[in-house]
Amino acid sequence: MKFDSPAGTNPIDRMTVVGQPHERIDGRFKVTGTAHYAYEHNDLGPELAYGCVVGSAIAKGRIGSIDTRAARRSPGVLAIVTHENAGPLGKGKFNVARLLAGPAVDHYHQAVAVVVAETFEQARAAANLVRVDYVREDGRFDLGALAPDAPPVGGNSDEGSATPAEDRIGDFERAFAQAAVKLDETYTTPDQSHSAMEPHASTARWDGDELTVWMSNQMVDWSRTDLAATLNVPKEKVRLVAPFVGGGFGGKLFLRSDALLAALGAREARRPVKVALARPLIANNTTHRPATIQRIRIGTGQDGRITAIAHESTSGNLQGGDPETAVAQTKLLYAGEHRLAAMRLAEMDLPEGNAMRAPGEAPGLMALEIAMDEMAEKLGMDPVEFRVVNDTQVDPMKPERRFSQRQLVECLRRGAERFGWNARVATPGQVRDGQWLVGMGVAAAFRNNLTLPSGARVRLGSDGVVTVETDMTDIGTGSYTIIAQTAAEMMGLPLSRVQVTLGDSDFPVSAGSGGQFGANSSTAGVYAACVKLREAVAAKLGFNSADDVEFTEGAVRSGNRSVPLAEAAADGEIVAEDRIEFDQAFSEAEQQSTFGAHFVEVGVDMATAEVRVRRMLSVCAAGRILNPVTARSQVIGAMTMGVGGALMEELAVDTRHGFFVNHDLAGYEVPVHADIPHQEVVFLDETDPRSSPMKAKGVGELGLCGVGAAVANAIHNATGVRVRQYPITLDKLLDGMPEMA
Ligand code: MOS
Repeated sequence: MKFDSPAGTNPIDRMTVVGQPHERIDGRFKVTGTAHYAYEHNDLGPELAYGCVVGSAIAKGRIGSIDTRAARRSPGVLAIVTHENAGPLGKGKFNVARLLAGPAVDHYHQAVAVVVAETFEQARAAANLVRVDYVREDGRFDLGALAPDAPPVGGNSDEGSATPAEDRIGDFERAFAQAAVKLDETYTTPDQSHSAMEPHASTARWDGDELTVWMSNQMVDWSRTDLAATLNVPKEKVRLVAPFVGGGFGGKLFLRSDALLAALGAREARRPVKVALARPLIANNTTHRPATIQRIRIGTGQDGRITAIAHESTSGNLQGGDPETAVAQTKLLYAGEHRLAAMRLAEMDLPEGNAMRAPGEAPGLMALEIAMDEMAEKLGMDPVEFRVVNDTQVDPMKPERRFSQRQLVECLRRGAERFGWNARVATPGQVRDGQWLVGMGVAAAFRNNLTLPSGARVRLGSDGVVTVETDMTDIGTGSYTIIAQTAAEMMGLPLSRVQVTLGDSDFPVSAGSGGQFGANSSTAGVYAACVKLREAVAAKLGFNSADDVEFTEGAVRSGNRSVPLAEAAADGEIVAEDRIEFDQAFSEAEQQSTFGAHFVEVGVDMATAEVRVRRMLSVCAAGRILNPVTARSQVIGAMTMGVGGALMEELAVDTRHGFFVNHDLAGYEVPVHADIPHQEVVFLDETDPRSSPMKAKGVGELGLCGVGAAVANAIHNATGVRVRQYPITLDKLLDGMPEMA
């Protein structure tokens, strides 16, 4: 199905199943331990062996020699694979750094060996006996030192918003010079780690020249393709299975070393092998969100209308890597005639930077939305009003383009009312509750709506049950449930009559989970397949056309005739398959984005400057909400993650040796829901007929965008201290705290 014109009325609009608050259909499997994750395929029998990955102890240089003799003699060891015996390896499209080092080393903890043994403990013990002699070279590890010489570079992170090295309209410099009120500040965001609960893990089994890998991965087809390319085997020989994934956040968009080394280890040992990356390996071995240095300049008239806005971001990456597209949202979020958005990229030798939840917008809004708060303060305007005044209903860079839907103002207004924003005292440091200084902050949320082609197969069995097959993943988001709801709505069945099977490369290729495109794109693919199935069923039952036939309450109806759906498959299953494809010219004719407003109240301890988030509210406008339960869970998870970005998360860089020092969950702290006593999410009524036949968008990344700045702005309101370097730890607040009376 080609999607190249606005969706008209269709069966999804009935909203009898879609849009209803159904709990996860896969929830029971998870809480009973019957959802098998990639590392849990213990049914492979006693042949199953364990691989342990050895990571490079240097950041840059080469392996002089590897001595595996002691490791090979160690009890239980079955095989050791290094670059010396791995055979020729290719490289996947989505990997910047190679997944197995040697002889060159590209970054710290890049895999140098996998040791396979009968038990995990034996593999780990032997891995400690692998002796590597490195020839160390100097590397470039300090973004701050490299930034002044970083060249302009554009970026397209595959699941983020593409943006050229420089985008201009009007004459920014002149307009900024003439502006009545101005801001020129620099903000920094640190490197961040995805920290998914389930580590990167794979189980690999060869059957002759055919490879099956159970993998914790967001994008089945990308990673299957890249694994085949890396192993130099035909793609048809590789099957990738990922039915359950314990979080990804972008860290599992791509093929990682656990999968490659499980496959290589299994080939060498002639046994099925499972490999999980140990937690301390993940931060440096896999990808991370790159640090940014962002300069923002905003000029307005006395009336608070923006006349000039510039956002420039510098980030670093390995050679061949992309910049963090932190300026993307600034091109679209606020009005203003004279605009500049630019990125610079420093080549560095730290581990690979890549997509992490809302790549681009998440760190970009952490900076932009503090800048907006600062401007409002300079203007003496309320921060909500300042944003409302600068709303635009057209793409400010291309005023002939409208937004397909844009309810930013409604989000801000509804949120302000619900949160009790009018109780906010504009002058900082005025509100006390016992030992706490209390403040409120607001920030806009923005994330582009991306779509990817997505396929599905649907089967109607003689028992009247519809089974959906697609390689779509559920990374904790609720894909199983919304896909079941879509098929149920289309076929006129209750949810209990639909089965969903996901995450297998034997199934049609889906959009996968990333860029908050998964929900809308994958359900649209299921919609397309169900349209085909409805046609096949109508034909089979002798109805003239599927158009005037209704599928409802388990029956197929037209005029006075009603036939049970199951009857169509009485003498054999009916199978239909299709794929939604989004016409690019149509998709881009209007700007498709999602909007929101975050409100945060913090308390800051008067003596210690410890920050506690007291309550949070997010109001989101993001197309049709397919399931308010799973969508809400996405947003409160994202809000919690945003608090981490504001207050805690920072990969500390050792600029001498080139690695992230705090590479475990003891040193790299993330918040949990229990840290925040009250979180509320409101979804505005919205359907977007330009997004897909589902008229839906995504919320999983929108929920993160802007949260950090809303926390920062609340801290400023509480204390009067403006921190522009994330995370906002108490050491950055202490010196500026108000005197205790
Ligand atoms: Mo997301 S960072 O596109 O998984």
